[in-house]
Amino acid sequence: MAFFHRSSRSKNQSNESIKNGVQLITAMHPKSPISEQFRTLRTNINFMAIDSPIKTLALTSANVSEGKSTVSNNLAVVWAQNGQRVLLVDADLRRPTLYRTFDLDNRQGLTTILTSRDHTIDLNEIIQPSGIDNLSLLPSGPIPPNPAELLSSHRMKDFLAAARERYDMVIVDVPPMLEVTDTQVISHNLDAIVLVIKQGQTQKLGAKRAVELLKLAHANLLGYVMNDVEGDGGAGYGYGYGYGYGYGYSSNEDDK
Ligand SMILES: Nc1ncnc2c1ncn2[C@@H]1O[C@H](COP(=O)(O)OP(=O)(O)OP(=O)(O)O)[C@@H](O)[C@H]1O
Ligand SMILES: [Mg+2]
Repeated sequence: MAFFHRSSRSKNQSNESIKNGVQLITAMHPKSPISEQFRTLRTNINFMAIDSPIKTLALTSANVSEGKSTVSNNLAVVWAQNGQRVLLVDADLRRPTLYRTFDLDNRQGLTTILTSRDHTIDLNEIIQPSGIDNLSLLPSGPIPPNPAELLSSHRMKDFLAAARERYDMVIVDVPPMLEVTDTQVISHNLDAIVLVIKQGQTQKLGAKRAVELLKLAHANLLGYVMNDVEGDGGAGYGYGYGYGYGYGYSSNEDDK
């Protein structure tokens, strides 16, 4: 069953993280330069939250396989390592990875909450521990045929509000902007969005279009993370992360 053309998918699509999860460098090597870069990213996001607190944050990208799951998972780990109570949510209902990364049971998850008839469903029964202090996890749950509909539901809004109350930080892994409308439909219910850009892979036009779509959706786009893969992209230490503010909302940026 396909609701969108697979042929339109990026030739850079990788299914590695869908099969095996993402690399948790920040948990395995907390003293590495990469982990330090994630801590810098955390600090930068905190700095941008001075006027209005950021407690629900999603990571998206223009296309598939640009590093959303890798960045959101590692960012959640460094936030938890800082002593804050963090909930990491897998809202990529098309290409979920969280249950693989943390080896979780995916029979219950976000979709259980969104489809349950029981409005008093206890989040504690669905949210799972991660094995990392302060970090709780909500896997995707069974994949539904109507992800965009579920993510745009009142249930999703209510869930985010409830999670916001319980945790210091809720980090949400969402699908890419140019593939499906899922992220557009939930972005205005989140405090902030960060765009992941993969150096050498994300095209300038694609990134611009993603920014335009976020703007149309009234999302609070904080900036972008440059996910810079050196070498063949397979090596654990081929990471490099930068953080920039280049993609603001000014539409006369034209061809920067
Ligand atoms: N900086 C990096 N260095 C090396 N490999 C990376 C880097 N970032 C991501 N990868 C690899 O690229 C692949 C895609 O990354 P990831 O799953 O995080 O992207 P995604 O945007 O969540 O993808 P999807 O669209 O499938 O959800 C994975 O195999 C991951 O291990
Ligand atoms: Mg992903």
